[in-house]
Amino acid sequence: MSEPVVSESIASEAIASEPDAPEAELLGFPQDRTCPYHPPTAYDPLRKGRPLSRVSLFDGRSVWLVTGHAEARALLADPRLSANRQNAAFPLPSRRFIGLQDRRTALLGVDDPEHNTQRRMLIPSFTLKRTAALRPRIQETVDRLIDEMEARGPRAELVSAFALPVPSMVICALLGVPYEDHEFFEGQSRRLVRGPERADVEDAREQINGYLRELIERKRRDPGDGLLDELVAERLEPGETDVDELVSLAAILLIAGHETTANMISLGTFTLLNHPEQLTELRSDPSLLSAAVEELMRFLSIADGMLRVAIEDIEIGGVTVRPDDGVVFSTSVINRDGAVFEEPDALDWHRPTRHHLAFGFGVHQCLGQNLARAEMEIALGTLFERLPGLRLAADPDRIPFRPGDTIQGMIELPVAW
Ligand code: HEM
Repeated sequence: MSEPVVSESIASEAIASEPDAPEAELLGFPQDRTCPYHPPTAYDPLRKGRPLSRVSLFDGRSVWLVTGHAEARALLADPRLSANRQNAAFPLPSRRFIGLQDRRTALLGVDDPEHNTQRRMLIPSFTLKRTAALRPRIQETVDRLIDEMEARGPRAELVSAFALPVPSMVICALLGVPYEDHEFFEGQSRRLVRGPERADVEDAREQINGYLRELIERKRRDPGDGLLDELVAERLEPGETDVDELVSLAAILLIAGHETTANMISLGTFTLLNHPEQLTELRSDPSLLSAAVEELMRFLSIADGMLRVAIEDIEIGGVTVRPDDGVVFSTSVINRDGAVFEEPDALDWHRPTRHHLAFGFGVHQCLGQNLARAEMEIALGTLFERLPGLRLAADPDRIPFRPGDTIQGMIELPVAW
């Protein structure tokens, strides 16, 4: 496909980083994608170069960008890299997120042993068995949404009619958050992840935290049967955690659990519609679905920019990462590393299984990955089965997608059937 519409890019100003390029000429990070399912073309020179390069952030600060698969795995498993967002040297991908550093982010923003204690509280709720038990509920949700689309059809805007409500309903059911409130927290978490200004991000965080604090108080008085209710009864009341930590844990689940999955459903649909041969094969053999979802995860790499800060010297890929150096990971480039994936730019679910890093790696590897896989399989499988005539209802080159950021996805997806 040719270049679709994206927001004004900083790519044009950037010059690819040479090993000794002066700091002022470094490539900026993050870059816009020029096609919603391929890594930004501005990173092409890095794909042929060394596994770690210097790039510059919005504030002019230079950090390491990791693009090699082996180096990414080694670094993400290395305790000399910290996820502590309160470290003043922690790299931020955008000015919008500056204010988030003043408060502790549970799980994703803390290191072991604190991280391990928090993660152990949640692990029982995310096992394969618990996820399998949610499948009938996910199927019911997906079926109902498609019924509604059909009743209003034969056209829809797929992000708002389907891709967003599926994970939103699932995360509500899992946590025990009333679905009546979905518009509120969908809107706020969208502002938090995408809000154009720093004030949006900070206000959205306050709104979400305030909502969850009130919900936790309600659950203390009137317990229900969600994960949050379990955490209140089993951890908060015995004094193993406090309200602030619980609010932060619930917030991360609420946010991590729906924007990402929604983007995979919308971008996955767009990508399959743009790969008709693969789609025909998938439709004729639904047993390929789970391999297709895994390959879409690799191919789309929507969480394109994990962030860390070094706390000790690390020798890797021919360079020395120093304490306080920011380290950012381009998942989309890492998952197209030709040393690991043959013909990396092809969408091919028959490729031998290799470990893509689209759910991260190491101690922070995605806690919700089993759930996300179940949601994607059911959503994409049912959508293409029930709407065999599904097609894009606009020129693919003109459908808006997210500009350079660390979470990728479609903003809108007009479809017809
Ligand atoms: C397709 C959808 C998803 C994608 C692409 C995705 C991606 C990721 C990635 C890349 C990380 C690691 C970040 C890092 O190391 O900096 C992560 C962590 C995490 N994800 Fe997901 N995720 C998805 C769905 C979900 C869902 C459905 C949930 C929960 C319901 C969830 C909850 C979490 C949590 C809690 C963490 C932090 C884990 C930790 O720090 O120990 N994610 N996710």
